[in-house]
Amino acid sequence: MDLYREHILDHYRRPRNRGRIANPTASTTVQNPVCGDSLTVDVDIEKGIIKDLRFNGTGCAISIASASMLAERSVGRRVSEVRDEETTAIAEELGIEISGTRAKCALLARSALQAALEKVQ
Ligand code: FES
Repeated sequence: MDLYREHILDHYRRPRNRGRIANPTASTTVQNPVCGDSLTVDVDIEKGIIKDLRFNGTGCAISIASASMLAERSVGRRVSEVRDEETTAIAEELGIEISGTRAKCALLARSALQAALEKVQ
């Protein structure tokens, strides 16, 4: 098995930051219209910094791994920095090309996070 695939499976099997935040600053649920899977992202923000980010829901290996990586990458960073992050960062971290139906899976958590961050502007 190649290294990138192992990396995805590791995050899928042991997702980081999975769960809910009791009183999040913002929360959003998004659904992948292609498959019906959905992810909820809760975010806790203090003074413009993402203090905590949790996600929960159902999804395939790519969507869960992508959510797990997004959570790891986003905690401790400025909201503006995370909001402006290019989607290429996700493809790079996943190590696969994200196009077609895969793109919807890979970008599901990011869509939820972006929608949550818009609520706190
Ligand atoms: Fe449902 Fe990927 S197949 S999120």
